[in-house]
Amino acid sequence: MKLVLCEDYEEMSLKAAEETVNLTKANPHCVLGLATGSTPMGMYKILTRMYREGRADFSRVKTFNLDEYYPISQDNPQSYHSFMDKNLFSQINIKKENIHILDGMCKNAEEECKNFEQLIEKTGGIDLQILGIGTNGHIGFNEPGEYLIPQTHLTYLSQSTLNANSRFFKEGEEMPKQALTMGIGTILKAKKILLLAGGMSKRDIIKQLLGGEITTHIPASMLKVHKDVVLMCDRAAYPD
Ligand code: GLP
Repeated sequence: MKLVLCEDYEEMSLKAAEETVNLTKANPHCVLGLATGSTPMGMYKILTRMYREGRADFSRVKTFNLDEYYPISQDNPQSYHSFMDKNLFSQINIKKENIHILDGMCKNAEEECKNFEQLIEKTGGIDLQILGIGTNGHIGFNEPGEYLIPQTHLTYLSQSTLNANSRFFKEGEEMPKQALTMGIGTILKAKKILLLAGGMSKRDIIKQLLGGEITTHIPASMLKVHKDVVLMCDRAAYPD
């Protein structure tokens, strides 16, 4: 795992955006794996700015999102569909048919996940996967546990994730207890992975990740077996 230490969140977001845009220039048909959460928001803002300034083109890019709550409707403001639309897709020239996000209202989750996996394969696989990290070490919604599931699947959210993400839901609004997520194997199949971590709240898990062993109790530690992973973090998240 290569480390890129950035001065602050702005620099981290800029470097991540530049890496993404460089890939779209080298390969306009590239396939991006995208993440939600507060971490990539700065990067998405910069991508939007670069597009407006004519420095980025997403017209042929395809995207697959990591995860989605379940059950949740696409137009729920807390859905990852809404998040991606608001923070990136509605701001750039990506084609609707090139965007793939798991359907939080699907009737048959198993089939939905299987089709998603097949579609990733059919497009040639993910060239660059953007990841954030949960304070408990989760990536996507692959929660710490005795075992991890390789493929895209329906899962229960851990108590720590429910606590961490409840801030996005209004009081009285029920937060989904389940989610559809790419599996660890799906993520590891990406050709390149960019793991972003910003802020003090991530320092402890980054310390465990850098120092520790590979364990299902820190799902992000599985990334250590991949040959092209960059951990990009700001000083606040970096344990020195
Ligand atoms: C969320 C998402 C992850 C995200 C992580 C960190 O629950 N499922 O994909 O990377 O938790 O979120 P944040 O960036 O807000 O800290």
